[in-house]
Amino acid sequence: MRKPFIAGNWKMNTDRAGAVDLAGGLVGRLKDVETVDMAVCPPHVYLDAVAKALNSSNIALGAQNVYFEPKGAFTGEISCKMLKDVCCTYVIIGHSERRHKIGETDELINKKISAAITSGLLPIFCVGELLEQREAGKTAQVVTEQIKEGLAGLSAEKVLAVTIAYEPVWAIGTGVNATPDQAQDVHAMIRELLADMYDNSLAGQMRIQYGGSAKPANTAELMACPDVDGLLVGGASLKADDFATMIKTVA
Ligand code: PGA
Repeated sequence: MRKPFIAGNWKMNTDRAGAVDLAGGLVGRLKDVETVDMAVCPPHVYLDAVAKALNSSNIALGAQNVYFEPKGAFTGEISCKMLKDVCCTYVIIGHSERRHKIGETDELINKKISAAITSGLLPIFCVGELLEQREAGKTAQVVTEQIKEGLAGLSAEKVLAVTIAYEPVWAIGTGVNATPDQAQDVHAMIRELLADMYDNSLAGQMRIQYGGSAKPANTAELMACPDVDGLLVGGASLKADDFATMIKTVA
């Protein structure tokens, strides 16, 4: 059985005090949760402070991005080793905002995933179609390409470190989530693709999160889908009560 995994993506939000408060509030509310893997992904500059606030609790720390080179003259970038050094377990890679607002390519995302796994970080690898791609009936094609290129060259052993997050771009931050049927269709397609690329056993073990306007009111119905193994939560993860409610709903 795949253990549910709920992660909060704080994006470019909070300040130092707010990040520490939010993390502390989650620790208190979620201390008894054992049946769900949980993580929060604050901005890089607050990772260290949030790591201290999480204080070796059952909530893991993740980053929102990483660079693939180990060190050197890459102004403004952050290495896998640096993320490990501030106690990160997870790293979000290929988020749609990085693909579409910053211009990250599948090739760059592939290098980041590979470097993260080699360093012992667990990537949350985001894929998802734009509204016009869905309307043109290209969802499966777009997501398939993103996954094939993002995971290119990764052995089965390595790919098991990855959580895939299916995040339809039209659902992110819009308040309009994919329906459970829409999510389940794409998640099942992704699992079949993983079975083709690797094998059934690996596909059955890999966790696929849904992301895009996930909130307390739709958590139960999304998580009831057989191939939805967790959620990547943006806006609702910035409120301790909402995020804790979602996790407790799943637990
Ligand atoms: P949202 O963001 O929950 O605010 O839609 C999800 C994400 O971008 O990971």
